[in-house]
Amino acid sequence: MKPQTSSILVRGRILHFLRDPAQSGAGPAWEYHPDGALFIENGIVRRCAAWAQVLESLPELTHEAARYHDYSGRLIVPGFVDCHTHFAQLRVMGAYGHQLLEWLERYVFPAEAAFADEGRARRSAAFFLDRLLAHGTTTASVFATVHAHAVDAFFAEASRRSLRMLCGKVLMDRNCPENLRDTPELAHQESAALIERWHGKGRLRYSITPRFAPTSSPAQLAVAGELYHSRKDLHLQSHLAENLAELAWVRELFPQCRDYTDVYDSYGLLGPRTIYAHGIHLSAPERRRLAETQTAIATCPSSNLFLGSGFFQTAAQDDEAMPLGFGSDVGAGTSLSMLRTMAAAYQVGQVHQESLSPWQAWYRASLGGASALGLDAFIGNFLPGREADFAVLDARRIPELAFRLEGNTDLAEELFALMMLGDERCVLATHVLGECAHHLDGLGIQ
Ligand code: GUN
Ligand code: ZN
Repeated sequence: MKPQTSSILVRGRILHFLRDPAQSGAGPAWEYHPDGALFIENGIVRRCAAWAQVLESLPELTHEAARYHDYSGRLIVPGFVDCHTHFAQLRVMGAYGHQLLEWLERYVFPAEAAFADEGRARRSAAFFLDRLLAHGTTTASVFATVHAHAVDAFFAEASRRSLRMLCGKVLMDRNCPENLRDTPELAHQESAALIERWHGKGRLRYSITPRFAPTSSPAQLAVAGELYHSRKDLHLQSHLAENLAELAWVRELFPQCRDYTDVYDSYGLLGPRTIYAHGIHLSAPERRRLAETQTAIATCPSSNLFLGSGFFQTAAQDDEAMPLGFGSDVGAGTSLSMLRTMAAAYQVGQVHQESLSPWQAWYRASLGGASALGLDAFIGNFLPGREADFAVLDARRIPELAFRLEGNTDLAEELFALMMLGDERCVLATHVLGECAHHLDGLGIQ
């Protein structure tokens, strides 16, 4: 018997991006329908256009059979994409008083060591994913811990929620506590088993996850490269050039390499579907090398401010055309919210007289992030065939925002106010594959 089609019709103010607004090219960078419709079949976008146009194009029986979500007046955007975060670090978000290397020792390593307890890993994964949904984020590139069961826990919970997620076991075999250390052999064996178990299962994809150069021996970095090249569709995530003390340490540990980027390059760790968090302290040749290998950077402004790591300069990046996404980088980041992350990015830009435009910010939090992760064929906008993940935003839920936007009819103004003053309080609902997965007023209510 042919399985029944599940159809969903959504009405609201719909905004999505078609390409990077910073790049000149043919056609508009975004599409906005003040009274728009999304028609979704079996979780996939079939039409995104003006309400009247969509209704006219659908046979009466089809739209009558569809389940209907009326979000008229609310802003509907593709689910936010968080290009870099750590699910084991929610418990140490906002921990006082240190910069990167001391902060890792003092707060992060103990928090990650606690994930030896499988029950904790499972509970944390469930909580983390529910909180991502409450913030309107539907896809993320996520570090687990060194424990393979933490990856199992994360993917199992992501699968229960039908989410498109990237995750990987952290590889580290030196310069970290004994109880968090693996070996090159174990790194290979456990990662390969996890890839077998999870990569390509439903919407899940595996990301090889060497923590950063200082905590992996050359032999382990070589294993990471071998794994990344073992299949043509695997992802890879790590950290790069975040903090000056880290840079000095990398120079000491890898004296034969030209610079930090060259360490990863030497082990074959640059390329499509690879993404590095931070990239604050990079030279022009490093940025060029990242751009030519299509290696992406996840900028994590709230983390960089919190740890005092430095200010990422976007203008320098634009010349090199390196793919850029936003990362919350929780627990160094101080919020899971991509709206708050955009606000921090704007503030960091202001330090260099770079006023990040709302168009650029909203692009990077959706299609830009999806492209940086190599997932733009699946998510990031509402083109026909894309997976129907979206967030419904209602500025009126925050009194100051409602007051600020009273009588406003300008979309750019609304987007800027939302990114500067908004947070999860204005994420009215989050839908995954068309289905409502979070609602501020409780599931089942529109
Ligand atoms: N560099 C290596 N590990 C980490 C981490 O967990 N967080 C941040 N922000 N930087 C890192
Ligand atoms: Zn990080």
